[in-house]
Amino acid sequence: MDFMEAVKGRRSIRKYNPDPVPEDVLEKVLEAIRWAPSWANTQCAEVIVVKDPKVKSELASTLSKGNPAFSALTDAPIVLVLCGKKGVSGFYKGQVATVKGDWLMFDTGMAMQNLCLTAHTFGLGTVVIGLFDHKKAEEILGVAQNIEVVAMTPLGYRATEGTAPKRKEIPEFVFYEKYPAK
Ligand SMILES: Cc1cc2nc3c(=O)[nH]c(=O)nc-3n(C[C@H](O)[C@H](O)[C@H](O)COP(=O)(O)O)c2cc1C
Repeated sequence: MDFMEAVKGRRSIRKYNPDPVPEDVLEKVLEAIRWAPSWANTQCAEVIVVKDPKVKSELASTLSKGNPAFSALTDAPIVLVLCGKKGVSGFYKGQVATVKGDWLMFDTGMAMQNLCLTAHTFGLGTVVIGLFDHKKAEEILGVAQNIEVVAMTPLGYRATEGTAPKRKEIPEFVFYEKYPAK
């Protein structure tokens, strides 16, 4: 698949069939996370691979009411939970290096994008899920104090095609040389 085809063709998939994901394909997706860029190559991103139906439904119960990704978490054979190690990304010699503080959200976001695009090239669906009770998910997964759960995604074969929500036109968000005066 051509790269732009992958970028434009990837959709958020919220309906899955239960077919298992081959282990070698899962490995490819994890490898793509491994090669994501990170602050000073600090690699704060970590992943929890969840296949246990009980844990998947516990994770689904953390979703905020009305989240359209609810059933995706139990239907898909795998849920990947993206976590970030705190106090690493965006730090230099233990001190925050920029006004942005901890860059773990950014680095895990880059890892998530690698994950989603790679999964798409292997015919697998994903949907980034950010609207849930993070503290509850951290308890369910037993993550250490210095680790934050950031986002999760089901991983599996889609039961339906997603349709592309409309995007802004390039002139609506690209400016040249300086931000336009009001
Ligand atoms: C940070 C982030 C959080 C998101 N959280 C959710 C979510 O909780 N539930 C959901 O169904 N979709 C969620 N999405 C998916 C977006 O709704 C989706 O990416 C957007 O509508 C564009 O559609 P597309 O991914 O098919 O291009 C999230 C996406 C991002 C990037």
